[in-house]
Amino acid sequence: METLLTRLGFSFFLLYFLVSCDLSLSFSPVDNYLVNCGALLDATVDNRRFVSDSSDSSHSHLSSPQSFSLCAGTLLPGLPPIYHTARVFKAPSKYVFDVKDPGTHMLRLHFHRFSSPQLNLADSKFHVLVNGLVVLTNFSGGGSVGPKVEITFLPAEKTKFAFVSAIEVISAPKDLILETAQSVNGDKLESFKGLNKQAFEVMYRVTIGGPQVTPFNDSLWRTWLPDDDYFKSKEGSNRVYFSGRIKYQEGGASREVGPDNVYNSARLIESKNASIPNVNLSWEFPVIEGYQYLVRLHFCDIASTSLGLLFFNVYVNGHLAYKDLDPSAVTKYLLASPFYVDLVVEADHSGIVNVTIGPSNKSMAYAVDAILNGLEIMKMSNWMGSFDGTLPAESVLKCLPRKRRVGFLLPLIALVCLLLSLSAIIRRRNERWSQCYGQNCQWRSMKFLQSKVNNNYQVKYKYMVMEPLGFVI
Ligand SMILES: *[C@@H]1O[C@H](CO)[C@@H](O)[C@H](O)[C@H]1NC(C)=O
Ligand SMILES: *[C@@H]1O[C@H](CO)[C@@H](O)[C@H](O)[C@H]1NC(C)=O
Ligand SMILES: *[C@@H]1O[C@H](CO)[C@@H](O)[C@H](O)[C@H]1NC(C)=O
Ligand SMILES: *[C@@H]1O[C@H](CO)[C@@H](O)[C@H](O)[C@H]1NC(C)=O
Ligand SMILES: *[C@@H]1O[C@H](CO)[C@@H](O)[C@H](O)[C@H]1NC(C)=O
Ligand SMILES: *[C@@H]1O[C@H](CO)[C@@H](O)[C@H](O)[C@H]1NC(C)=O
Repeated sequence: METLLTRLGFSFFLLYFLVSCDLSLSFSPVDNYLVNCGALLDATVDNRRFVSDSSDSSHSHLSSPQSFSLCAGTLLPGLPPIYHTARVFKAPSKYVFDVKDPGTHMLRLHFHRFSSPQLNLADSKFHVLVNGLVVLTNFSGGGSVGPKVEITFLPAEKTKFAFVSAIEVISAPKDLILETAQSVNGDKLESFKGLNKQAFEVMYRVTIGGPQVTPFNDSLWRTWLPDDDYFKSKEGSNRVYFSGRIKYQEGGASREVGPDNVYNSARLIESKNASIPNVNLSWEFPVIEGYQYLVRLHFCDIASTSLGLLFFNVYVNGHLAYKDLDPSAVTKYLLASPFYVDLVVEADHSGIVNVTIGPSNKSMAYAVDAILNGLEIMKMSNWMGSFDGTLPAESVLKCLPRKRRVGFLLPLIALVCLLLSLSAIIRRRNERWSQCYGQNCQWRSMKFLQSKVNNNYQVKYKYMVMEPLGFVI
């Protein structure tokens, strides 16, 4: 790995030059566990086979004293089959996955909170730990580690239970998280080291100016939401869409870092006459004070008519992070060639991470004067090894409910899917993930990338990237 660090004026440029990214082959992870929880049969989603975790399967990674399968009583049109079943845990339970390929892994937990005649998954309440990191506490559907990924589900109260719909554990491409980033601390810019020893939880992943990018069109099966909800500038923005080829090259972003469909759209500021527009483009993301966030900005100059015309500034929370950024120089003088920058910022009391791009002193008339193609915001685990509060894993384990009687008589094996009455369907239609749970409401609804599968049903999934067996998402 080669990192280029150039000092320019008062700002640092920290640009990534990555090792051999194979640009032709699609990504095939060494570790690739896809689990269809609570299902009797395997299910295929976007050509990926999710293997059933039912007890008679030889591939089962589950150890659970009291769990059972639950099936959504009706077929949910448009919803991938992995969301039709869930595994429900009445006692602490875990899935353990052997890791063949050390290093960063991606973990994705899927939750679809349906209600069946036997049980309403909205009544769940639980904690999730992954390799000793606290990933979720009191959830309701709504470091250096050993050679395993261990996901533990803990019911939070005696009368409650835990559930999960599907699990993915995948080794990450080596260039997904690098060792260093630029840290923006007030007006101070510093190098942040050891980034790849961190665990991350993806909070926002947006494609700028374009339509949603689905897992089908992303080599790491990610979803990139449109930026409209976060984009705050009313004037001065044009969208651009590029139908040519995105030129991935060694030293820039690889296709695993960001897919074509993210880089081929953008918002930009453009000078159409002899003056340079006096505007900025800003995006705002709600975050939680007290955590650090990795802000990854994706750039690809798909709009300039020739090289060397585009210069702009990048600000985070009003602080200059990149001055006179020159995409031509970064991409070794190639247009439509993608790259990214990583910034580490601390969330302050404003509860907002504010990303702004705007013309710089070097911007030119009759040219593009700022561009942004994609943006990711990842929460970094805090000093307690938690993404969710300040209780360390030991304490979460300690506040477990006492062993309960097996009261709850439900068949252990999946219930047969039946078409239920219309009223049940209508009830389910009204289910909303954004439902409030007391004061936690605010951040619960921010915590997850939400995917509206169709107009009727919502599912949630939690993405994480761990290192060495960290999460990313
Ligand atoms: C994948 O991308 C292509 C090209 O942008 C688009 O036409 C297609 O609809 C996308 N497919 C899905 C499933 O999102
Ligand atoms: C350039 O165009 C902008 C709007 O497109 C306008 O506000 C501005 O006055 C123009 N400047 C000149 C020098 O014509
Ligand atoms: C975000 O930054 C822009 C430009 O610096 C500024 O106008 C805006 O007020 C900021 N928003 C917040 C919430 O700080
Ligand atoms: C753009 O944002 C920067 C940083 O907040 C600010 O200093 C500058 O004045 C803004 N420019 C305009 C035109 O709002
Ligand atoms: C742009 O130039 C002006 C005048 O030289 C200077 O005061 C200002 O700091 C410069 N802005 C940036 C972002 O470098
Ligand atoms: C879960 O919530 C209860 C009450 O709301 C609280 O007492 C408990 O500490 C929480 N548990 C964790 C692990 O945060």
